[in-house]
Amino acid sequence: MNKKRPFAATFGTNLLPSVPTLDGGREGVPVGGRLEVTVDQTGAVLLSITFSARKSPRRGFIVGFESTAMIEQIVILDFGSQYTQVIARRIRECNVYSVILRYDTPAAEIAALRPKGIILSGGPSSVYATDAPLPDPALFTLDVPMLGVCYGLQLMAQFLGGKVEPGLKREYGKGSLRVKDSFCALFANLPETLQVWNSHGDKLTKLPAGFKSVAVTENSDLAAIEHHGRKLFGLQFHPEVAHTPQGREIIANFVHSICGCGKHWTMHSYIEQAVEAIRAQVGQERVILGLSGGVDSSVAAALIHRAIGDQLTCIFVNNGVLRGREAEVVREVFGRHFRIKLRYVNASALFLRRLKSVTDPERKRKIIGKTFIEVFEGAAKRVGKVKFLAQGTLYPDVIESVPIGGNPAAMIKSHHNVGGLPKRMRLLLVEPLKCLFKDEVRELGLELGLPREIVLRQPFPGPGLAVRILGEVTAQRLAILRNADHVVVEEMKNSGWYYKMWQSFAVLLPIRSVGVMGDERTYEYTIAIRAVESQDGMTADWVKLPPELLDRLSNRIINEVKGVNRVCFDITSKPPGTIEWE
Ligand code: XMP
Repeated sequence: MNKKRPFAATFGTNLLPSVPTLDGGREGVPVGGRLEVTVDQTGAVLLSITFSARKSPRRGFIVGFESTAMIEQIVILDFGSQYTQVIARRIRECNVYSVILRYDTPAAEIAALRPKGIILSGGPSSVYATDAPLPDPALFTLDVPMLGVCYGLQLMAQFLGGKVEPGLKREYGKGSLRVKDSFCALFANLPETLQVWNSHGDKLTKLPAGFKSVAVTENSDLAAIEHHGRKLFGLQFHPEVAHTPQGREIIANFVHSICGCGKHWTMHSYIEQAVEAIRAQVGQERVILGLSGGVDSSVAAALIHRAIGDQLTCIFVNNGVLRGREAEVVREVFGRHFRIKLRYVNASALFLRRLKSVTDPERKRKIIGKTFIEVFEGAAKRVGKVKFLAQGTLYPDVIESVPIGGNPAAMIKSHHNVGGLPKRMRLLLVEPLKCLFKDEVRELGLELGLPREIVLRQPFPGPGLAVRILGEVTAQRLAILRNADHVVVEEMKNSGWYYKMWQSFAVLLPIRSVGVMGDERTYEYTIAIRAVESQDGMTADWVKLPPELLDRLSNRIINEVKGVNRVCFDITSKPPGTIEWE
């Protein structure tokens, strides 16, 4: 039969769900394949679809579905820089989707995503070191615009015939960049002189063929380079960090003018996409979700509810160590306002009984984690036949970190997870936030109509106030801490500081010190105030709050919180301290 082939295409796996199971397996293996439409001699149209199963999961996600070839995107190869995720976020801020892949991802796999551009991140290594992380050499044969940042520039240059050598002195900190080539598209609409942030010891000493220098700093004649014909660019400084104030414009120039990306990635458009994907994954089955009142589970609940309505049941467990109005707010917002099916389980008494006399922080965590699982499982059973468990997993939780040098992103926050729900529940996961960063999740929450009180909420640890009461957790100590915490949160919100920092809270130090109130001698507990600034909780700086605010906090706590006669302000950063006190 003589066949014509008017149309043939390979396709990724956006359409078919790949569902991870709780025990680490996957169900409904993701597939890719080939679609061919052929017309035979009789004029009949034949449709042939060949599926090919993919064993290893792809690392770019959209709504828990594999592969993103249909989405306009920039691929970032991670060479271990602590700023890789910042690059990804800056690109998303340009309304362009970005994925982070390991530095050694095969070029063919990258090409299959059809990226509009590729960024090579920075990294702590030297390109000439024997253990330097190197990309697949075929990467440089892809006909895609590419931008190398710091180590990325040096890699690109070395691969293409340039030379990198140890610099005589390390260039670290602020620098001044002078753009020599006003036609270079990276610097379009930017002034001739820019403040930039450097952090490198090695130096590019010889340009590869076809490249030219487009900008210089005091220390380098090759601070920014370009191969005009091939759209290859390199920056010795870091455009992604805040210390390069116009770095955002440089990144925007790369993704829009050079790579030709539109502005399609918005949370508004994501809702439509996610709703369809959730419906396709879940079908007519039922989903349960453990609502904690935090941003992630709340946004996941609102999004999944938008997709499947009453097929979703949320379970909210009161573990007795919640903040003051926590349970009330969740019931009000989700039960009454959104009309989401909500099971409220008040297990406070059980949790507090098990925490009695326990002082070791890790034991507190374990008890709370284990009890939560038990209570949640019991509540889930009462929901009836359920196939899926929804979770508010975020992109930073699933990015494969590159453990190179001292990259803090390689440290997994294992103790922060409540231990995972039991494997024997054998539920499949629905994780609709898996490709989003926290700031995107907040934006999504607002788009979905969640109140600011929930969406802009600071992180709160799973073991709650139990790790903010040093030593034993008792009902009396919880009451004191709740009152103090209420004052801290209220004052932080009223002064606007709450929204400017990662976390601010009260800690109860149940040691007594002497004080005097009126004519009376007092002998009461101490409250420590913690206020920290952080990007991801991995490292943190204490916030320099104005003295007037500290004064108000101290006065109010001592006047309004019975059982406290002293207030301290914690001025420890992380490291060496942790954010929580336990
Ligand atoms: P640390 O205290 O380790 O905290 O500096 C870093 C971030 O993680 C939160 N945190 C927890 N979150 N379960 C959680 O869900 C935990 O056991 C836990 N311990 C700390 C903490 O609030 C901070 O945001």
